[in-house]
Parts: sequence; structure tokens; C-alpha cells
Amino acid sequence: MSLRLRTPRLTVRDYTAADLDDVAEILADPDVFWWVKEPFTRERARLWLAEEMGYMGRDGTGRRAVVLRQSRKVIGGAGLVWRELDSGREIELGYHLHHAYWGQGYATEAGRACLDYACRRGRRRVVSLIYIDNPRSEAVARRLGMSPESELVWAGLPHRLWAVELGGAQG
Ligand SMILES: CC(C)(COP(=O)(O)OP(=O)(O)OC[C@H]1O[C@@H](n2cnc3c(N)ncnc32)[C@H](O)[C@@H]1OP(=O)(O)O)[C@@H](O)C(=O)NCCC(=O)NCCS
Repeated sequence: MSLRLRTPRLTVRDYTAADLDDVAEILADPDVFWWVKEPFTRERARLWLAEEMGYMGRDGTGRRAVVLRQSRKVIGGAGLVWRELDSGREIELGYHLHHAYWGQGYATEAGRACLDYACRRGRRRVVSLIYIDNPRSEAVARRLGMSPESELVWAGLPHRLWAVELGGAQG
């Protein structure tokens, strides 16, 4: 399912193949996907982008491009993904930004748009899996109203499960 969310400064929209230059630039920075040890070559970025484009759930899940409305540059990604966790089947909010765009509230703005969308879809709860030493991501989660609930090992690393209950009007 195609999705386009607009915020004051951003558009959160489906990835397209034309996003490869911007995506490759973002992924080439080892601080962004810091948990991936092998360098993100352009070819790996192309495969990554193809995978993201291939997962667009009919219920609006899937990760999307975060685009600056002013310049139309892709500055990161955000979206909702189903996860099978001990707490049950949960929807996870994820986000990342090009390093040059940290510190300006863009991740919070994109994350809020995703949560508002989840709420409009009738979701009651959204979680985030955050590595225990990722204070910037925790700060985004906190600004989005999330609270830490439990600790777990995810992708072989210690994480905290953050969660927020949503208003959940059906629609
Ligand atoms: C996680 C990540 C997206 C957070 O980025 P970020 O820039 O810290 O978060 P935001 O874009 O919400 O910006 C928040 C900062 O902008 C400031 N800000 C400025 N204008 C703002 C606004 N309108 N609204 C909110 N914050 C604003 C905040 O005060 C905060 O400042 P600080 O960095 O001095 O604390 C980024 O660190 C990243 O991409 N990390 C690598 C990937 C990753 O770890 N993803 C999460 C996996 S769980």
C-alpha cells in the first residue's frame, strides 16, 4: 500500500529506485546503521533499497523515505514494521537520519507522523526496540511519549522495549 504523510517540514513517502543516490550517501555513514559491520557499498545500498521497496504492507506498514519538503532530498527513513516478540505481535516504529540532519527534530517529526498514522489506522500500541546505549534514539522515543518497558536481546544485542499506547480512533 502506497503511503504519503506530510508534516510541516517533511514528507514521509514510499521509497523509489530514484532515491538510490541519497540512500547510498546515508548508508555510507558508519554512524547511521552502526550495527552493520560491513561497509555499505553502493551495490549493497541498492539491494537494501530494493528490499525496503519490496516490503510495503497492505496495512500501511513498511519503512518509508523521510524527505525534506523544501529540497526534496531524502534525509532518512522511518516507518512501522510488524515484529514477533515475547510480548506478542507488535508494530515497531523505526527511524534513522543522515548524520548531517541530526539535532533538528526531524526524526521526532517523522516518528510523530508515523504514530498519528498508526492511530488513524486504529492501532492501540506501537513499540520501539532500542539498543541500551543509544541515547539519541531513546530521546526521540521519549519525545514521542514512549516509555521503557523491558529489556531483551534483539539481533544479538541488548535492547530495551519502548512502548506507547495510542488513542486509536478506527479508520
Ligand atoms: C536516532 C536518530 C534518528 C536521532 O536523531 P536526532 O537528530 O537526535 O533526533 P531528532 O531529529 O528528533 O532531533 C532531536 C534534536 O533536535 C532538537 N530539535 C530542534 N528542533 C526540534 C523540533 N522542532 N522538535 C524536536 N526536537 C527539535 C532537539 O532539542 C534535539 O536536540 P539535541 O540533539 O541537542 O538533544 C539519529 O541519531 C540516527 O539516525 N541514529 C542512527 C540510527 C539509529 O540509531 N536509529 C534508531 C534505531 S533504534
